[in-house]
Amino acid sequence: MSKKFFPKKFHWGAATASYQIEGGIDNNDWSMASKDGKVPACDRATDHYSRYKEDIDLAKSLGHNSIRISIEWSRIEPEEGKFDEKEIEHYKDVLSYIISKDMTPFVTIWHFTLPVWFRDIGGFLNKKSPGYFARYCEYVVSELGNLCRHWATINEPVVFATNGYIRGFWPPFEKSFRSYNRVFNNLVKAHKLSYKRIKSLDIGCELGIVKDNIYFHSNWNPFNKILAGVMSWWWNRRFLNKIHGYFDSIGLNYYFHKKFGDNSIYEKTDMDWDIYPEGIYYVIRELKQYDKPIFIAEAGIADEKDKYRGDYIKDLISNTHKAIEHGANVRGFMYWSLLDNYEWAHGFEKRFGLIEVDYKTLKRKIRPSAYEYKKICQSNSIEG
Ligand code: BGC
Repeated sequence: MSKKFFPKKFHWGAATASYQIEGGIDNNDWSMASKDGKVPACDRATDHYSRYKEDIDLAKSLGHNSIRISIEWSRIEPEEGKFDEKEIEHYKDVLSYIISKDMTPFVTIWHFTLPVWFRDIGGFLNKKSPGYFARYCEYVVSELGNLCRHWATINEPVVFATNGYIRGFWPPFEKSFRSYNRVFNNLVKAHKLSYKRIKSLDIGCELGIVKDNIYFHSNWNPFNKILAGVMSWWWNRRFLNKIHGYFDSIGLNYYFHKKFGDNSIYEKTDMDWDIYPEGIYYVIRELKQYDKPIFIAEAGIADEKDKYRGDYIKDLISNTHKAIEHGANVRGFMYWSLLDNYEWAHGFEKRFGLIEVDYKTLKRKIRPSAYEYKKICQSNSIEG
């Protein structure tokens, strides 16, 4: 066994998102949907909002030198055009604390949840939505820009549009291809406009997008091969192609593969997703054409018993290393997630955390796999 080293200053850490952990958020589209009984309630979640120091300390103790967080739009702009200074102060405190621990923050400005006022004007169906979104982004970066250099506007635009407007799983629970297209196009505009505004504020910051990509592959059948190719374009590249020239880096989320014409049985995560870590190599490779630095912004597994997580993380990271050896410009790896959290329509039942949360007592307990990941983070290398 030899050690494979990662580039110097590689970012190691874990990702989180505001609504999934903070608690106490009651004026966004998800909290409203939970009041209508359409999705599980989030309530106090992990109470990260008040316990962020404890959680950041835990991340530090696990050898992380970076962390990915998101800002809750409904806290910052609870009413149209009215920004809440107290809430922006909160995020200043969080970022300052991260920096005081000698860790690098990566901030996603918007991770799925919409303030109620924005939902009420139609969300991203509204043709003025890119302007509202860009105004919010501009405000956040103008206030927090001196505490963060790594920004992303939107988390997983294609998942947001698909789950909310085609599958009807997430607010606003629509099943309309027409709405999907409108949302998709407005998200493209929203990102581009925000990019221009943020760059005119702070030309030197690194501003990207977080995109979830799937490894589409197939058996020998030529039809399936074409299908895999079309799906890779449709799901993985179409959004990125439309915002070409408007991103400095790509945050890549990897969870899935889809093999057309394949009846193999794979081991499953608690989400019933195939365990297929090797797919990360191919999705990284696919991004080479954009010639931008890549951060693995999320990759992780729901595994309550912590049976697979340690090996899964090692396999993801070995495959990321292989992609780097083959020329990919990968700068960091953020495991999803630091803590157990609110897994959207699944509620609190699915557990992705390096740290287990007891939702009754809110006690945190580090899972054994987190120590395996710690060795990798601290040595900046993986055995292999
Ligand atoms: C999202 C997270 C989510 C994770 C696991 C990603 O799609 O960014 O919010 O919890 O996947 O499903």
